[in-house]
Amino acid sequence: MRLKIAVLAGDGIGPEVTREATNILRAVAELGGHDFTFSEALIGGVAITASGSPLPTATLDLALESDAVLLGAVGDNKFNSLTPDKRPEAGLLQIRQALGGFANLRPSIAYKGLSASSPLRPEVTEGVDILFVRELLGGLYFGAPRWWNKDADAPGGGEAINTMRYTKAEVVRVAHIAFELAAKRRGKVTSVDKANVLEVSQLWRAAVTEVAAEFPGVTLEHQLVDSMAMHIMNTPRNFDVVLTENLFGDILSDEAGVITGSLGMLPSATIGGAVNLYEPVHGSAPDIAGTGKANPLGAILTAAMVLRHSAHLEADARAVELAVHKVLDAGYRTADIARGQQPGQTPVTITLVSTIQMGKLVHQALAESIDRRQAMHAV
Ligand code: NAD
Ligand code: IPM
Ligand code: MN
Repeated sequence: MRLKIAVLAGDGIGPEVTREATNILRAVAELGGHDFTFSEALIGGVAITASGSPLPTATLDLALESDAVLLGAVGDNKFNSLTPDKRPEAGLLQIRQALGGFANLRPSIAYKGLSASSPLRPEVTEGVDILFVRELLGGLYFGAPRWWNKDADAPGGGEAINTMRYTKAEVVRVAHIAFELAAKRRGKVTSVDKANVLEVSQLWRAAVTEVAAEFPGVTLEHQLVDSMAMHIMNTPRNFDVVLTENLFGDILSDEAGVITGSLGMLPSATIGGAVNLYEPVHGSAPDIAGTGKANPLGAILTAAMVLRHSAHLEADARAVELAVHKVLDAGYRTADIARGQQPGQTPVTITLVSTIQMGKLVHQALAESIDRRQAMHAV
């Protein structure tokens, strides 16, 4: 298997967690005899500093000629005073648009070993396995017009506008992905909107309902986004695939990090375009960048999604996920998931580890399980 991977580590903890994710991909390549190549390029704040642009042409060209793009995170407080089009985040939105992936898959899983890390009670989180399908190229992020007239004294001044806009075709294509995935899971799609107030949501609801008719084996329910935010915390086990527009998905998927215990645990894959884009859900975490505290598991689980969706190496994807489970079950924790888990209170001894140590532990567990698999095949 050959795979050309563009690695855009970005800002803050981006490089720290991406290094651990690429180490895992290198290990899978080595253990399985695959040919993965990695090419690095700049995006976000580091790209602005180096070249004046959050998405330099060289980065975009590299991404477009790769089989997969693995991104760390963008964002740096020193650019906070810039308008949205000049900020590091603009580079991310531009590359999403250029690669064309419109379905952003964000799994949120309650890991058994982490039940004490979540502020939710174990009986609420036990067995939770939600897949958010977030529409990624529409809505308020890309709708026109958009502007901010800062000069309050000018005609039309002191006003800002963003536009939530969707076409039926944009909703239908992402809904298809959600239903196809639900058909292979537990057969339920929950579509989230604000159809009691927004015309865009009424279009969304009508289009999703039409697509549902093509999938008689899948149950569709509609939820309004405000009460959905509450249901996700109260009864997360009730959800299988959750289909949302862009901004609602951004917000609800971070909220779902509470189920797992940390935002640092959540991976994502964006499919449907020319090149798939892989990024953990979390940001550049400027508050912990450079301290060795960043949790690399979201990025490592994102690497598993590269194996699943771009390399089509399902067994290896599962092996990486299993290695993460094992390391957690053995009690290893980065600081964000050590919360609420004090030595003596849990059946396993909790060991606090750094970003690099966590990466090594997953690597070790992975090598052991792949060795075992190969030994079994050899018998
Ligand atoms: P954030 O996700 O960076 O951090 C939120 C909180 O979660 C922080 O306390 C942080 O320390 C913690 N956290 C996040 N990831 C962690 C990890 N892997 N391990 C341990 N703790 C982790 O969100 P924010 O602080 O609102 O945003 C910071 C910057 O990141 C902003 O510039 C924002 O635009 C950007 N951002 C980028 C992306 C991306 O590149 N995909 C995603 C979200 C936010
Ligand atoms: C995410 C991030 C991005 C988004 C930002 C950084 C543009 O929050 O991927 O969740 O809002 O999509
Ligand atoms: Mn977000």
